[in-house]
Amino acid sequence: MESLTETRELLMKKYLMQKMGDLVMAVLTWIDYWFTGSVSAMTPEETLNDPFKHYNLLRDNGRFLRSHRNRGWMALGYDEVQLVLRDNRLGADLRKNAFLSKMIRMAADGRTVSFLDNPTMLNLDPPDHSRLRKLANHGFVHKSILSLEPRIVELVDQLLDDIDIAGDQFDIVEVLAKPLPVIVIAELLGLPKEDVPRFQELSHRFVGLTAIGNNELMNVGARAASELHDYFADVIASKRQTPGDDLISNLIEVEEGGDRLTNEELNSTCIVLLIAGHETTTHLIGNGMHLLLENPDELRKLRDDPSLIPNAIEEMLRMEPPVQFTARTANEDLELAGRKIRKNQLVMAVIASANRDPARFDEPEIFNVSRQDLGHMAFGYGIHLCLGMTLARLESKVAFERLLSRFGRLDLAEQKIEFTPVPLNRGRQKLLINVG
Ligand code: HEM
Repeated sequence: MESLTETRELLMKKYLMQKMGDLVMAVLTWIDYWFTGSVSAMTPEETLNDPFKHYNLLRDNGRFLRSHRNRGWMALGYDEVQLVLRDNRLGADLRKNAFLSKMIRMAADGRTVSFLDNPTMLNLDPPDHSRLRKLANHGFVHKSILSLEPRIVELVDQLLDDIDIAGDQFDIVEVLAKPLPVIVIAELLGLPKEDVPRFQELSHRFVGLTAIGNNELMNVGARAASELHDYFADVIASKRQTPGDDLISNLIEVEEGGDRLTNEELNSTCIVLLIAGHETTTHLIGNGMHLLLENPDELRKLRDDPSLIPNAIEEMLRMEPPVQFTARTANEDLELAGRKIRKNQLVMAVIASANRDPARFDEPEIFNVSRQDLGHMAFGYGIHLCLGMTLARLESKVAFERLLSRFGRLDLAEQKIEFTPVPLNRGRQKLLINVG
Protein backbone atom coordinates (compact mmCIF):
# COMPACT_ATOMS: atom_id res chain seq x y z
CA MET A 1 0.00 0.00 0.00
CA GLU A 2 2.84 2.30 1.00
CA SER A 3 4.69 1.63 -2.23
CA LEU A 4 1.52 2.38 -4.22
CA THR A 5 1.29 5.79 -2.55
CA GLU A 6 4.98 6.38 -3.25
CA THR A 7 4.53 5.46 -6.93
CA ARG A 8 1.53 7.77 -7.16
CA GLU A 9 3.48 10.62 -5.58
CA LEU A 10 6.39 9.99 -7.91
CA LEU A 11 4.13 10.03 -10.97
CA MET A 12 2.45 13.19 -9.76
CA LYS A 13 5.82 14.85 -9.21
CA LYS A 14 6.95 13.84 -12.69
CA TYR A 15 3.70 15.14 -14.20
CA LEU A 16 4.04 18.48 -12.43
CA MET A 17 7.68 18.81 -13.48
CA GLN A 18 6.67 18.13 -17.07
CA LYS A 19 3.90 20.73 -16.90
CA MET A 20 6.28 23.25 -15.35
CA GLY A 21 8.79 22.49 -18.11
CA ASP A 22 6.09 23.13 -20.74
CA LEU A 23 5.16 26.39 -19.05
CA VAL A 24 8.78 27.56 -18.90
CA MET A 25 9.17 26.70 -22.60
CA ALA A 26 6.02 28.64 -23.47
CA VAL A 27 7.26 31.73 -21.61
CA LEU A 28 10.71 31.54 -23.22
CA THR A 29 9.12 31.10 -26.64
CA TRP A 30 7.00 34.17 -26.03
CA ILE A 31 10.07 36.21 -24.98
CA ASP A 32 11.84 35.13 -28.18
CA TYR A 33 8.85 36.09 -30.25
CA TRP A 34 8.75 39.47 -28.59
CA PHE A 35 12.44 40.25 -29.10
CA THR A 36 13.10 38.77 -32.52
CA GLY A 37 9.70 38.86 -34.13
CA SER A 38 9.63 35.27 -35.21
CA VAL A 39 11.51 32.66 -33.19
CA SER A 40 9.21 29.79 -32.40
CA ALA A 41 6.18 31.84 -33.21
CA MET A 42 5.22 29.28 -35.79
CA THR A 43 3.41 26.11 -34.83
CA PRO A 44 5.51 22.93 -34.72
CA GLU A 45 3.74 21.82 -37.91
CA GLU A 46 4.70 25.01 -39.75
CA THR A 47 8.28 24.67 -38.52
CA LEU A 48 8.47 21.15 -39.87
CA ASN A 49 6.82 21.95 -43.18
CA ASP A 50 8.80 25.07 -44.02
CA PRO A 51 11.68 25.67 -41.62
CA PHE A 52 13.46 27.70 -44.32
CA LYS A 53 10.85 30.43 -44.25
CA HIS A 54 11.30 30.51 -40.49
CA TYR A 55 15.11 30.71 -40.75
CA ASN A 56 14.93 33.44 -43.40
CA LEU A 57 12.70 35.50 -41.11
CA LEU A 58 15.10 34.97 -38.25
CA ARG A 59 18.17 35.83 -40.33
CA ASP A 60 16.47 39.05 -41.41
CA ASN A 61 16.30 39.94 -37.70
CA GLY A 62 19.94 39.21 -37.07
CA ARG A 63 22.66 36.86 -38.22
CA PHE A 64 23.57 35.93 -34.66
CA LEU A 65 20.62 36.05 -32.30
CA ARG A 66 19.94 35.51 -28.64
CA SER A 67 17.58 32.59 -28.18
CA HIS A 68 15.92 32.49 -24.80
CA ARG A 69 14.15 29.28 -25.67
CA ASN A 70 17.50 27.51 -25.98
CA ARG A 71 18.97 29.62 -23.17
CA GLY A 72 21.70 30.55 -25.60
CA TRP A 73 22.35 31.80 -29.11
CA MET A 74 21.59 31.03 -32.74
CA ALA A 75 24.05 31.55 -35.60
CA LEU A 76 22.06 32.01 -38.81
CA GLY A 77 24.38 33.67 -41.34
CA TYR A 78 26.84 31.62 -43.39
CA ASP A 79 29.92 33.38 -41.99
CA GLU A 80 28.55 33.25 -38.45
CA VAL A 81 27.90 29.48 -38.64
CA GLN A 82 31.46 28.98 -39.89
CA LEU A 83 32.77 31.16 -37.07
CA VAL A 84 30.99 28.99 -34.52
CA LEU A 85 32.09 25.67 -36.02
CA ARG A 86 35.74 26.58 -36.29
CA ASP A 87 36.20 28.36 -32.96
CA ASN A 88 37.94 26.05 -30.48
CA ARG A 89 36.61 28.09 -27.56
CA LEU A 90 33.27 26.49 -28.41
CA GLY A 91 33.07 22.75 -27.81
CA ALA A 92 30.80 19.89 -28.81
CA ASP A 93 30.65 18.40 -25.32
CA LEU A 94 27.02 19.18 -24.57
CA ARG A 95 27.31 17.75 -21.05
CA LYS A 96 28.66 21.17 -20.09
CA ASN A 97 25.27 22.72 -20.72
CA ALA A 98 23.27 22.07 -17.57
CA PHE A 99 19.91 22.94 -19.19
CA LEU A 100 20.35 20.48 -22.05
CA SER A 101 21.76 17.65 -19.94
CA LYS A 102 18.95 18.05 -17.43
CA MET A 103 16.28 17.82 -20.15
CA ILE A 104 17.88 14.71 -21.61
CA ARG A 105 18.37 13.09 -18.20
CA MET A 106 14.72 13.71 -17.32
CA ALA A 107 13.60 12.08 -20.55
CA ALA A 108 15.99 9.17 -20.04
CA ASP A 109 14.50 8.39 -16.64
CA GLY A 110 17.70 6.81 -15.32
CA ARG A 111 18.57 4.92 -18.50
CA THR A 112 21.97 5.10 -20.19
CA VAL A 113 22.20 7.93 -22.72
CA SER A 114 25.14 7.22 -24.97
CA PHE A 115 26.17 10.80 -25.67
CA LEU A 116 26.08 11.75 -22.00
CA ASP A 117 27.35 8.52 -20.43
CA ASN A 118 29.70 7.29 -23.15
CA PRO A 119 30.06 10.28 -25.47
CA THR A 120 30.84 9.64 -29.11
CA MET A 121 33.39 11.63 -31.09
CA LEU A 122 30.49 13.89 -32.15
CA ASN A 123 30.19 15.13 -28.59
CA LEU A 124 33.79 15.27 -27.48
CA ASP A 125 36.43 17.98 -27.71
CA PRO A 126 40.16 17.54 -28.34
CA PRO A 127 42.20 15.69 -27.24
CA ASP A 128 39.55 12.92 -26.74
CA HIS A 129 37.82 13.81 -29.99
CA SER A 130 41.05 13.71 -32.01
CA ARG A 131 41.94 10.33 -30.51
CA LEU A 132 38.59 8.67 -31.31
CA ARG A 133 38.35 10.23 -34.74
CA LYS A 134 41.85 9.14 -35.71
CA LEU A 135 41.13 5.55 -34.72
CA ALA A 136 37.69 5.41 -36.39
CA ASN A 137 39.05 7.09 -39.50
CA HIS A 138 40.82 3.83 -40.38
CA GLY A 139 37.47 2.50 -41.55
CA PHE A 140 36.68 5.52 -43.71
CA VAL A 141 39.68 5.85 -45.96
CA HIS A 142 38.42 7.56 -49.13
CA LYS A 143 39.72 4.84 -51.47
CA SER A 144 38.27 1.92 -49.52
CA ILE A 145 34.85 3.59 -49.37
CA LEU A 146 34.91 4.22 -53.13
CA SER A 147 35.69 0.53 -53.67
CA LEU A 148 32.19 -0.24 -52.30
CA GLU A 149 30.57 1.15 -55.46
CA PRO A 150 29.95 -2.20 -57.23
CA ARG A 151 28.26 -3.63 -54.12
CA ILE A 152 26.12 -0.50 -53.72
CA VAL A 153 25.06 -0.74 -57.39
CA GLU A 154 24.10 -4.37 -56.78
CA LEU A 155 22.08 -3.44 -53.68
CA VAL A 156 20.24 -0.58 -55.40
CA ASP A 157 19.37 -2.84 -58.35
CA GLN A 158 18.12 -5.54 -56.00
CA LEU A 159 15.95 -3.06 -54.09
CA LEU A 160 14.52 -1.67 -57.33
CA ASP A 161 13.92 -5.21 -58.70
CA ASP A 162 11.97 -6.06 -55.56
CA ILE A 163 9.55 -3.15 -55.93
CA ASP A 164 5.98 -4.17 -56.23
CA ILE A 165 4.80 -1.40 -58.53
CA ALA A 166 1.06 -1.10 -58.07
CA GLY A 167 -0.46 1.18 -60.72
CA ASP A 168 3.05 2.37 -61.73
CA GLN A 169 3.41 4.03 -58.34
CA PHE A 170 5.68 3.44 -55.32
CA ASP A 171 7.07 5.11 -52.24
CA ILE A 172 10.74 5.85 -52.92
CA VAL A 173 11.50 6.42 -49.23
CA GLU A 174 10.19 3.01 -48.22
CA VAL A 175 11.67 0.97 -51.06
CA LEU A 176 15.06 2.60 -51.52
CA ALA A 177 15.98 5.61 -49.35
CA LYS A 178 15.35 3.81 -46.04
CA PRO A 179 16.79 0.35 -46.65
CA LEU A 180 19.88 1.26 -48.70
CA PRO A 181 21.95 3.19 -46.10
CA VAL A 182 21.06 0.85 -43.28
CA ILE A 183 22.02 -2.26 -45.28
CA VAL A 184 25.30 -0.60 -46.35
CA ILE A 185 26.27 0.45 -42.83
CA ALA A 186 25.23 -2.96 -41.43
CA GLU A 187 27.43 -4.73 -44.00
CA LEU A 188 30.29 -2.34 -43.27
CA LEU A 189 30.02 -2.98 -39.53
CA GLY A 190 29.61 -6.72 -40.10
CA LEU A 191 26.16 -7.04 -38.51
CA PRO A 192 23.87 -10.00 -39.30
CA LYS A 193 21.36 -9.37 -42.08
CA GLU A 194 18.43 -10.44 -39.92
CA ASP A 195 19.20 -7.62 -37.46
CA VAL A 196 18.68 -4.90 -40.09
CA PRO A 197 14.97 -4.24 -39.39
CA ARG A 198 15.66 -4.08 -35.63
CA PHE A 199 18.41 -1.50 -35.70
CA GLN A 200 16.67 0.43 -38.46
CA GLU A 201 13.79 0.84 -36.07
CA LEU A 202 16.06 1.57 -33.08
CA SER A 203 18.04 4.25 -34.86
CA HIS A 204 14.82 5.83 -36.12
CA ARG A 205 13.60 6.09 -32.51
CA PHE A 206 17.01 7.18 -31.19
CA VAL A 207 16.95 10.54 -32.99
CA GLY A 208 13.97 11.49 -30.81
CA LEU A 209 16.56 12.30 -28.13
CA THR A 210 17.42 15.45 -30.05
CA ALA A 211 13.83 16.79 -29.91
CA ILE A 212 14.54 19.04 -26.92
CA GLY A 213 11.27 20.07 -25.32
CA ASN A 214 9.28 17.14 -26.72
CA ASN A 215 9.16 14.79 -23.75
CA GLU A 216 7.45 11.96 -25.56
CA LEU A 217 9.96 11.79 -28.44
CA MET A 218 12.88 12.22 -26.04
CA ASN A 219 11.67 9.38 -23.87
CA VAL A 220 11.31 7.06 -26.87
CA GLY A 221 14.81 8.13 -28.00
CA ALA A 222 16.36 7.45 -24.61
CA ARG A 223 14.86 3.96 -24.49
CA ALA A 224 16.25 3.24 -27.97
CA ALA A 225 19.69 4.57 -26.93
CA SER A 226 19.91 2.14 -24.06
CA GLU A 227 18.69 -0.80 -26.23
CA LEU A 228 21.29 0.04 -28.87
CA HIS A 229 23.99 0.14 -26.21
CA ASP A 230 23.05 -3.39 -25.05
CA TYR A 231 22.83 -4.63 -28.63
CA PHE A 232 26.33 -3.43 -29.52
CA ALA A 233 27.77 -4.72 -26.22
CA ASP A 234 26.77 -8.24 -27.35
CA VAL A 235 28.04 -7.72 -30.90
CA ILE A 236 31.43 -6.42 -29.70
CA ALA A 237 31.84 -9.29 -27.23
CA SER A 238 31.15 -11.82 -29.97
CA LYS A 239 33.53 -10.12 -32.44
CA ARG A 240 36.28 -10.14 -29.84
CA GLN A 241 35.84 -13.91 -29.73
CA THR A 242 35.43 -14.43 -33.48
CA PRO A 243 36.68 -11.46 -35.53
CA GLY A 244 35.49 -11.03 -39.09
CA ASP A 245 36.51 -8.90 -42.05
CA ASP A 246 34.46 -5.87 -41.02
CA LEU A 247 34.69 -2.41 -39.50
CA ILE A 248 33.89 -3.44 -35.89
CA SER A 249 36.57 -6.16 -35.95
CA ASN A 250 39.02 -3.64 -37.48
CA LEU A 251 38.15 -1.06 -34.82
CA ILE A 252 38.80 -3.68 -32.12
CA GLU A 253 42.22 -4.36 -33.65
CA VAL A 254 43.19 -0.86 -34.70
CA GLU A 255 46.10 0.71 -32.89
CA GLU A 256 47.72 4.14 -33.16
CA GLY A 257 50.93 4.66 -31.21
CA GLY A 258 49.96 2.01 -28.66
CA ASP A 259 46.44 3.44 -28.29
CA ARG A 260 43.25 1.38 -28.71
CA LEU A 261 39.52 1.97 -28.32
CA THR A 262 38.05 0.80 -25.01
CA ASN A 263 34.88 -1.30 -24.95
CA GLU A 264 32.69 1.71 -24.18
CA GLU A 265 34.39 3.82 -26.86
CA LEU A 266 33.85 1.03 -29.37
CA ASN A 267 30.22 0.87 -28.37
CA SER A 268 29.61 4.59 -28.76
CA THR A 269 31.54 4.66 -32.06
CA CYS A 270 29.27 1.90 -33.43
CA ILE A 271 26.20 3.85 -32.31
CA VAL A 272 27.39 7.08 -33.90
CA LEU A 273 28.22 5.34 -37.18
CA LEU A 274 24.85 3.66 -37.29
CA ILE A 275 22.88 6.77 -36.39
CA ALA A 276 24.90 9.36 -38.29
CA GLY A 277 25.19 7.20 -41.36
CA HIS A 278 21.67 5.99 -41.71
CA GLU A 279 18.80 8.43 -41.30
CA THR A 280 20.81 11.28 -42.85
CA THR A 281 21.47 9.47 -46.13
CA THR A 282 17.84 8.30 -46.24
CA HIS A 283 16.76 11.93 -46.06
CA LEU A 284 19.30 13.04 -48.66
CA ILE A 285 17.78 10.60 -51.19
CA GLY A 286 14.15 11.40 -50.25
CA ASN A 287 14.62 15.17 -50.07
CA GLY A 288 16.71 15.19 -53.24
CA MET A 289 14.16 13.19 -55.20
CA HIS A 290 11.41 15.55 -54.12
CA LEU A 291 13.44 18.57 -55.23
CA LEU A 292 14.04 16.97 -58.62
CA LEU A 293 10.39 16.09 -59.14
CA GLU A 294 9.28 19.57 -58.18
CA ASN A 295 11.76 21.00 -60.67
CA PRO A 296 11.26 18.99 -63.88
CA ASP A 297 13.62 21.24 -65.86
CA GLU A 298 16.43 20.33 -63.49
CA LEU A 299 15.50 16.65 -63.74
CA ARG A 300 15.70 16.95 -67.53
CA LYS A 301 19.20 18.42 -67.24
CA LEU A 302 20.29 15.30 -65.35
CA ARG A 303 18.68 13.01 -67.92
CA ASP A 304 20.53 14.87 -70.70
CA ASP A 305 23.82 14.82 -68.81
CA PRO A 306 24.08 12.27 -65.98
CA SER A 307 27.61 13.48 -65.21
CA LEU A 308 25.83 16.38 -63.46
CA ILE A 309 24.47 14.02 -60.78
CA PRO A 310 27.29 14.61 -58.21
CA ASN A 311 26.83 18.37 -58.58
CA ALA A 312 23.05 17.95 -58.25
CA ILE A 313 23.60 16.04 -54.99
CA GLU A 314 25.61 18.97 -53.58
CA GLU A 315 22.74 21.27 -54.53
CA MET A 316 20.24 18.95 -52.81
CA LEU A 317 22.40 19.05 -49.68
CA ARG A 318 22.53 22.83 -49.82
CA MET A 319 18.79 23.33 -50.29
CA GLU A 320 17.53 20.62 -47.94
CA PRO A 321 20.26 19.59 -45.50
CA PRO A 322 19.25 16.41 -43.65
CA VAL A 323 20.98 17.77 -40.53
CA GLN A 324 19.40 21.19 -40.07
CA PHE A 325 21.57 22.44 -37.23
CA THR A 326 24.17 21.44 -34.72
CA ALA A 327 25.11 22.81 -31.32
CA ARG A 328 28.15 23.89 -29.36
CA THR A 329 28.72 25.15 -25.81
CA ALA A 330 31.08 27.91 -24.78
CA ASN A 331 34.14 26.57 -22.94
CA GLU A 332 34.83 30.06 -21.55
CA ASP A 333 33.34 33.56 -21.58
CA LEU A 334 34.01 34.86 -25.07
CA GLU A 335 33.08 37.38 -27.72
CA LEU A 336 31.84 36.20 -31.10
CA ALA A 337 30.12 38.04 -33.95
CA GLY A 338 30.09 41.09 -31.70
CA ARG A 339 28.13 39.33 -28.94
CA LYS A 340 29.22 38.35 -25.45
CA ILE A 341 28.69 34.65 -24.85
CA ARG A 342 28.93 33.29 -21.33
CA LYS A 343 30.71 30.09 -20.36
CA ASN A 344 28.57 26.95 -20.89
CA GLN A 345 25.92 28.77 -22.92
CA LEU A 346 24.52 26.92 -25.90
CA VAL A 347 25.15 28.13 -29.46
CA MET A 348 23.06 26.64 -32.25
CA ALA A 349 24.76 26.64 -35.65
CA VAL A 350 21.86 26.61 -38.09
CA ILE A 351 23.26 24.89 -41.18
CA ALA A 352 19.93 25.07 -43.00
CA SER A 353 19.94 28.85 -42.67
CA ALA A 354 23.62 29.27 -43.64
CA ASN A 355 23.03 27.21 -46.79
CA ARG A 356 20.40 29.68 -47.99
CA ASP A 357 22.13 32.87 -46.91
CA PRO A 358 21.77 35.39 -49.76
CA ALA A 359 25.02 37.02 -48.62
CA ARG A 360 26.80 33.79 -49.64
CA PHE A 361 24.72 32.20 -52.44
CA ASP A 362 23.20 33.77 -55.56
CA GLU A 363 19.46 33.14 -55.73
CA PRO A 364 19.60 30.79 -52.73
CA GLU A 365 15.95 29.77 -53.04
CA ILE A 366 16.47 28.41 -56.57
CA PHE A 367 17.32 24.74 -57.01
CA ASN A 368 19.94 24.65 -59.73
CA VAL A 369 21.70 21.35 -60.43
CA SER A 370 24.49 23.09 -62.32
CA ARG A 371 25.15 25.68 -59.60
CA GLN A 372 28.81 26.59 -59.44
CA ASP A 373 28.98 28.45 -56.11
CA LEU A 374 28.93 25.36 -53.90
CA GLY A 375 30.43 25.32 -50.41
CA HIS A 376 27.33 24.32 -48.43
CA MET A 377 27.79 23.18 -44.84
CA ALA A 378 25.46 20.16 -44.90
CA PHE A 379 28.34 17.95 -43.72
CA GLY A 380 29.37 20.44 -41.05
CA TYR A 381 32.62 22.35 -40.91
CA GLY A 382 35.80 22.27 -38.84
CA ILE A 383 37.08 19.38 -36.76
CA HIS A 384 33.74 17.53 -36.68
CA LEU A 385 33.33 17.56 -40.47
CA CYS A 386 31.32 14.47 -41.39
CA LEU A 387 33.42 11.31 -41.40
CA GLY A 388 30.99 9.51 -43.71
CA MET A 389 30.50 12.10 -46.44
CA THR A 390 32.24 10.03 -49.14
CA LEU A 391 29.92 7.13 -48.35
CA ALA A 392 26.81 9.35 -48.33
CA ARG A 393 27.77 10.92 -51.65
CA LEU A 394 28.49 7.51 -53.18
CA GLU A 395 25.22 5.92 -52.05
CA SER A 396 23.12 8.82 -53.26
CA LYS A 397 25.00 9.06 -56.59
CA VAL A 398 24.36 5.38 -57.31
CA ALA A 399 20.71 5.69 -56.21
CA PHE A 400 20.00 8.61 -58.58
CA GLU A 401 21.98 7.09 -61.46
CA ARG A 402 20.09 3.80 -61.27
CA LEU A 403 16.70 5.46 -60.84
CA LEU A 404 17.20 7.70 -63.86
CA SER A 405 18.49 4.93 -66.06
CA ARG A 406 15.74 2.49 -65.04
CA PHE A 407 12.70 4.77 -65.32
CA GLY A 408 12.10 6.91 -68.41
CA ARG A 409 9.34 8.72 -66.53
CA LEU A 410 9.50 9.93 -62.93
CA ASP A 411 6.66 12.15 -61.68
CA LEU A 412 5.47 13.31 -58.32
CA ALA A 413 2.22 11.54 -57.39
CA GLU A 414 -0.60 13.49 -55.85
CA GLN A 415 -0.12 13.35 -52.07
CA LYS A 416 0.19 15.33 -48.86
CA ILE A 417 3.87 15.41 -47.93
CA GLU A 418 4.52 14.61 -44.27
CA PHE A 419 7.87 15.42 -42.66
CA THR A 420 9.70 13.49 -39.97
CA PRO A 421 8.76 14.87 -36.54
CA VAL A 422 12.29 15.65 -35.27
CA PRO A 423 13.33 19.21 -36.19
CA LEU A 424 17.07 18.36 -36.23
CA ASN A 425 16.54 16.00 -39.16
CA ARG A 426 14.79 17.15 -42.28
CA GLY A 427 13.13 14.38 -44.25
CA ARG A 428 9.97 13.21 -45.98
CA GLN A 429 8.19 10.34 -44.22
CA LYS A 430 7.18 9.01 -47.62
CA LEU A 431 7.34 10.15 -51.23
CA LEU A 432 5.05 8.56 -53.76
CA ILE A 433 6.27 8.68 -57.32
CA ASN A 434 4.73 7.64 -60.61
CA VAL A 435 7.04 5.85 -62.99
CA GLY A 436 6.94 4.54 -66.50
C1 HEM B 1 23.73 12.88 -46.23
C2 HEM B 1 24.28 12.21 -45.26
C3 HEM B 1 24.99 12.84 -44.10
C4 HEM B 1 24.88 14.12 -43.58
C5 HEM B 1 24.01 15.26 -44.09
C6 HEM B 1 25.77 14.19 -42.46
C7 HEM B 1 25.97 15.33 -41.70
C8 HEM B 1 26.89 15.44 -40.69
C9 HEM B 1 27.19 16.66 -39.97
C10 HEM B 1 26.48 18.00 -40.17
C11 HEM B 1 28.16 16.38 -39.07
C12 HEM B 1 28.84 17.38 -38.11
C13 HEM B 1 28.06 17.54 -36.84
C14 HEM B 1 28.66 18.59 -35.92
O1 HEM B 1 29.54 19.36 -36.30
O2 HEM B 1 28.17 18.66 -34.79
C15 HEM B 1 28.49 14.99 -39.22
C16 HEM B 1 29.42 14.33 -38.46
C17 HEM B 1 29.63 12.97 -38.55
N1 HEM B 1 29.10 12.10 -39.48
FE1 HEM B 1 27.84 12.55 -40.96
N2 HEM B 1 26.38 12.97 -42.29
C18 HEM B 1 25.94 12.14 -43.28
C19 HEM B 1 26.31 10.82 -43.48
C20 HEM B 1 27.18 10.11 -42.70
C21 HEM B 1 27.57 8.75 -42.89
C22 HEM B 1 27.12 7.88 -44.05
C23 HEM B 1 28.38 8.42 -41.84
C24 HEM B 1 29.07 7.13 -41.51
C25 HEM B 1 28.72 5.97 -41.87
C26 HEM B 1 28.54 9.60 -41.02
C27 HEM B 1 29.31 9.68 -39.89
C28 HEM B 1 29.58 10.85 -39.20
C29 HEM B 1 30.44 10.90 -38.03
C30 HEM B 1 31.16 9.72 -37.38
C31 HEM B 1 30.48 12.23 -37.63
C32 HEM B 1 31.22 12.81 -36.43
C33 HEM B 1 32.55 13.36 -36.86
C34 HEM B 1 33.27 14.05 -35.72
O3 HEM B 1 32.67 14.38 -34.71
O4 HEM B 1 34.48 14.25 -35.86
N3 HEM B 1 27.80 10.62 -41.57
N4 HEM B 1 27.72 14.44 -40.23
